[in-house]
Amino acid sequence: MSVIKGGASAESWDSIYRDEESPGWNVGTVTPVLQELLPKLTERLEHDRKRKLFVPGCGFGHDAAWLSKQGFIVEASDFSQLAVGQAKSNYGSCDNLSINQADVFSETGVYDVVFEHTFFCAIPIELREQWVEKCLGLLKPNGYYFGVFHKVNLETPDGPPHSVNDEEIKTLFGKKFEFIRYEYSKHSLSSRMGVEKEFIFKKL
Ligand SMILES: C[S@@+](CC[C@H](N)C(=O)[O-])C[C@H]1O[C@@H](n2cnc3c(N)ncnc32)[C@H](O)[C@@H]1O
Repeated sequence: MSVIKGGASAESWDSIYRDEESPGWNVGTVTPVLQELLPKLTERLEHDRKRKLFVPGCGFGHDAAWLSKQGFIVEASDFSQLAVGQAKSNYGSCDNLSINQADVFSETGVYDVVFEHTFFCAIPIELREQWVEKCLGLLKPNGYYFGVFHKVNLETPDGPPHSVNDEEIKTLFGKKFEFIRYEYSKHSLSSRMGVEKEFIFKKL
């Protein structure tokens, strides 16, 4: 992934989407990490795949659309108008997928599952605790937060992407979630191998 500029405001992300047709974080399709990780989650979701799932900071919507095709009822959002416009143009006709422009911190839905990919590293570091609380509020009891943390155990002083280390993940999420899985992904794109961890956390 090339440098993520971004920042705290929707305008700052919009300006990147305006300048770059395909920003560095855009895989252009569903991330292979999600494709490999999902079965490890669904085996825990009993037999009912019709689950309500939320995707924060969905960008162009590739992962959200793929999840909707796997049988989830997906709500995806992003506060960038341009990202949402492109996501709707790409996937607006998919069944079981709604894409909205919203700041994640004002979301009010309640879901069985929250999936994220390069979102945690994109928000300002000072909002991380707030995100943990928000994520808990978005999840039903025993709900799952799963996905891909980017830039794990690396120094990126000029982020975003803001690095995150194992200790911080443990401190932020450890008291509120059971860690079912948290490990370097074997299925990352070659350019991201060794810098991202896949995770499945269960709300306690
Ligand atoms: C690094 S991009 C990742 C996009 C997508 N998940 C992907 O992997 O292609 C981070 C996204 O989060 C969005 N974002 C950042 N802060 C947000 C917030 N507070 N509310 C909603 N979206 C936000 C940005 O607009 C951007 O589209």
